[in-house]
Amino acid sequence: MTTATTGTKAVKGAVGTAHTRLEGRDKVTGAARYAAEIPFAELAHGWLVLSTVARGRVRSLDTAPVLGMPGVLSVLHHENAPRLDTDYVGMLGAPDPTAAVFQHDRVPHLGWPVALVVAETSEQAREAAEALLVHYEEEPHDVAFSAGRPDAYEAAGFGPAVTEKGDLEAELAASAVVVDEEYTTPEEHHNSMEPHAATALWDGGRLEVVDSNQGTTWVASELANMFSLDPGSVRVRSEHVGGGFGSKGLRAHQVAAVMAATVLQRPVRVVMTRRQTFSLAGYRSPTAQRIRLGADAGGRLRALDHDSLNLTSTVHEFVEGSAGVARTMYDADAHRTATRLVRLDVPTPTFMRAPGEAPGSFALESALDELAEKCGIDPIELRARNKPERGPVSGLPFSSHHLLDCFREGARRFGWADRDPRPGLRRDGRWLLGTGTAAAHFGAGAAPSTAAVTAEADGTFTVRISAADIGTGARTALTLVAADALEVTPDRVRVRIGDSDFGPAFIAGGSMGTRSWAWAVTAAATELRERLALNTGIPPEGITIRSDTTAAIGALAQKERHSFGAQFAEVAVDPTTGEVRVRRMLGIFAAGRIVNPLTARSQFLGGMIWGISMALHEEAVRDRASGGLYGADLAGYHVAAHADIPAIEADWVGEPDPDDPVGIKGIGEIGIVGAAAAIANAVWHATGVRHRNLPIRPDRVL
Ligand code: MOS
Repeated sequence: MTTATTGTKAVKGAVGTAHTRLEGRDKVTGAARYAAEIPFAELAHGWLVLSTVARGRVRSLDTAPVLGMPGVLSVLHHENAPRLDTDYVGMLGAPDPTAAVFQHDRVPHLGWPVALVVAETSEQAREAAEALLVHYEEEPHDVAFSAGRPDAYEAAGFGPAVTEKGDLEAELAASAVVVDEEYTTPEEHHNSMEPHAATALWDGGRLEVVDSNQGTTWVASELANMFSLDPGSVRVRSEHVGGGFGSKGLRAHQVAAVMAATVLQRPVRVVMTRRQTFSLAGYRSPTAQRIRLGADAGGRLRALDHDSLNLTSTVHEFVEGSAGVARTMYDADAHRTATRLVRLDVPTPTFMRAPGEAPGSFALESALDELAEKCGIDPIELRARNKPERGPVSGLPFSSHHLLDCFREGARRFGWADRDPRPGLRRDGRWLLGTGTAAAHFGAGAAPSTAAVTAEADGTFTVRISAADIGTGARTALTLVAADALEVTPDRVRVRIGDSDFGPAFIAGGSMGTRSWAWAVTAAATELRERLALNTGIPPEGITIRSDTTAAIGALAQKERHSFGAQFAEVAVDPTTGEVRVRRMLGIFAAGRIVNPLTARSQFLGGMIWGISMALHEEAVRDRASGGLYGADLAGYHVAAHADIPAIEADWVGEPDPDDPVGIKGIGEIGIVGAAAAIANAVWHATGVRHRNLPIRPDRVL
């Protein structure tokens, strides 16, 4: 266990002290039930049938033989499925039609849902699904992502498509030092430990869905919209979630389960197989990023251009906002960022841990390292000389900016001062050794949520909030937050989450979950404590206070709000085999007040480990002939395993967020940001060779 050298004030209370997960014992003993494990009477099982062609139309389905197979109850497809409304704007915009299954005969990519076979048992459903003959009218497809495609277009996503200031070409021409390179990152997939699963049933006129998701009120409102239901008549529960990372919103399985439960009037469960998640769960778009940096001899940036090309599907637009990194991190006299898309016959990409920041930081933080080399300036000093006074694009002041504190503390602990900047000099037997660093950042936001806190007659307290614990320890964190606001010990507080009936709350996403929920819990608990101080006694039903943070969050001043961090890596490279091993890694983060140091450290490490995976292992390769993936499973899609993970440590500096009631900023995503660049920069330091294409596979090292 690390000893946190936190700069947070020593506050007496539960927040800031290490607590094991409240549900930890249940999880490791199997008592905690995940969505696909919860029993229901009369449960039927649906199995999704996915297209085997990458583009075309479904001409017909031979359902008759399948309906005669043992246990089969129904086959839903575009000719008989309930109609859906997709003409609405949900919490994150228009719905991805991939979730609105069976509405037409078009097939926009391989692995598109074309039918759901429902049977008495999962095995019967699977057997029938595999026997279902689907006839297609095939059309030529195009899945070839590459830089320089003439059909690329500028697309906005959550930020503007293009930002421009100054005369880029003139500043580049006048610069003493120029870096102009292209960096690529591959298609990457989520692979949550728990694949997506949902059970739907109608109960007393209400639709109930037991699911694995990142936000129950979010999924409930999407389903209400899609099925044209009164929002109050939909209840979604999601008690334990085995990972989400951006992939667990509304997806095909919940919609298909609701359709089948409606048609059959009995509970229906739909589970994605691991293989199915590769086309149905969303993924990270590949990127091709061109970075142009121009600097004076002292390393001060005169020109910065970050141009990112990504892909999306033909049915929905999703932008991996990689160029957003330059909008936050570095200013220049001439500054340009652009996000471009190409539409291909592939599944729609989606949010995946630090969407934009993860690939964007690989490109920009690698380019900064190249600039440092060319200028003969230490990479940390180069970043110090280019620390922006205000948001480079927004012009807004930063709420707080502790990037250099992270570098200072990280450099001290990593032993950076002893580093010889020249590459290819250090050896350990057959291994070449090198060290590298990179900056990290992530937005620090909060979104409106509601919570209810009840003082029970027995002296305990119950918190109800439709939060999601996707493995982060959110339930435990909220218990500590509530205890402090109530001024009681955590053992007197029970926190109930994962139920849309608890009222609207933000999702476990955008690194904003715990902060947004903690704000609502603190507001209700504080008011309750003040009420109890009046000593009016507690009636048998308890006293409940509800909060809604919409107004408080709406009143926040406009600022650039971010967490920052510094990543350090040491690698060993075998020049004979091309093997790259990370030997040690250190991440120092300034991410506001840390609620639970034990689980926070795990979350930072999890992000950094994913960064190692991104740097060295992960790559989904699309086959141009079929339009599908090679190895759409955990045998073919490599992720870092235990043996790949070295001595790795995460710690934090910095102050509580000045505008948050608890001081939280959010730690969900920043751990992966900059991690791959730190490793790539270390590989350069070891070998003298730049790696601008991820992953750094052995064949690329040689
Ligand atoms: Mo995260 S990619 O905001 O779930």
